[in-house]
Amino acid sequence: MAAKPDARVPRHIAIVMDGNGRWAKQRLRPRTFGHHAGQKAVRTAVEFCLQRGVASLTLFAFSSENWSRPATEVSALMELFLKAIDREVDELHGNGVRIRFVGDLEAFAPELRARMLGAMERTSGNIALNMNVAVNYGGRWDIANAARLAAEAAARGEFSLAELDEQRLNSFTCLADQPPLDLFIRTGGERRVSNFLLWQLAYAELYFTDTLWPDVDQACLAEALDDYARRERRYGRTGEQVAAG
Ligand code: FPP
Repeated sequence: MAAKPDARVPRHIAIVMDGNGRWAKQRLRPRTFGHHAGQKAVRTAVEFCLQRGVASLTLFAFSSENWSRPATEVSALMELFLKAIDREVDELHGNGVRIRFVGDLEAFAPELRARMLGAMERTSGNIALNMNVAVNYGGRWDIANAARLAAEAAARGEFSLAELDEQRLNSFTCLADQPPLDLFIRTGGERRVSNFLLWQLAYAELYFTDTLWPDVDQACLAEALDDYARRERRYGRTGEQVAAG
């Protein structure tokens, strides 16, 4: 019989990787220097999730709102994504990581989009860890997109509008095929959600740390998981009901 998964280990973790710009500023370097340093922390987070047996890791790499940053920073980030795909995919694939880019990919240059699709296709059979990279992603976009897809399916006669309930709408959201989100982590000191995974956050535990993303190491992530392991997840029930199982 397969071992029962340890409920104290989150199956799905999402991270807002905040603080790259401030990390660079502290070193009197341009913001892009911080984004480059942030890549190392991405590697750390992936290794950590593989070691702990986390099923899904969802990273907020570029929000729908990030297009309004200075043009030089946006193009540096695009360049960084392109290079990261070229450099990292072999190793991620070797480690059994399934890569998925979630968000509205239409807005990206054809070359970058092709690389994203290539990485997704190449790693699609992997099962050790789902690594979801949210790019040009917004939680409201995800919900609106799901609503549009559901309406189209209903118009095709796949179900009636009366049958469009939470579960069915959920099936059209970006991460529907993955475990429910258990733990949301935001680094860099801000205590907000910033339009990330709004639908999926419904029952997630929230964890905030002042550590800037490039400084995040295994110990920092272990602290977040220790904190998670102490939480009592009640889903609307009383503490007594939870204790009784
Ligand atoms: C937020 O920090 C960070 C980003 C908008 C970019 C995140 C990108 C990376 C970590 C690069 C690597 C990612 C992948 C998946 C290859 P900020 O710039 O808002 O920092 P600040 O709040 O200190 O200004």
